[in-house]
Amino acid sequence: MLQLVYVSSLSPQADFDPTAILATSRANNRRDGITGLLYSDKARFLQALEGPEAEVEAAFARIKGDARHRAIVLLSRRTVDTREFGDWEMAHRMPGTDADRFIERVRELTANADPNVRATFEGFVKVRDGA
Ligand SMILES: Cc1cc2nc3c(=O)[nH]c(=O)nc-3n(C[C@H](O)[C@H](O)[C@H](O)COP(=O)(O)O)c2cc1C
Repeated sequence: MLQLVYVSSLSPQADFDPTAILATSRANNRRDGITGLLYSDKARFLQALEGPEAEVEAAFARIKGDARHRAIVLLSRRTVDTREFGDWEMAHRMPGTDADRFIERVRELTANADPNVRATFEGFVKVRDGA
């Protein structure tokens, strides 16, 4: 099973509409056997995708082609035996109490990532904490 974690910014031309994003994501992910977690703070997204390799690659290719994203940086690409982000078709977290556990989890996942990736991630967390 493939697990991807990426961060991106909302395009200045796009509206923040989590309801629409989640409707499409959940329908597609249910079809494709993909689960994961989407963290958003209205300006940026942090998303984990887990599932069969070909389906996860295809979903990530669609996401990369989506004009709502301005800059996508892949933080982590791993093969996993079991799903690490739960069984949700696409869980969603906004800044608040339950976000903290998720941030800790992704910090662990990116522990071996290269320094640029880690710096990007640390920046994300700082923006969230300041929100
Ligand atoms: C922040 C964000 C997260 C997304 N997550 C997913 C996802 O997990 N799965 C998915 O299929 N599409 C996701 N999308 C939507 C894709 O970019 C794309 O619009 C969609 O997969 C196209 O599906 P369709 O061909 O069925 O319309 C996401 C879009 C955004 C902006």
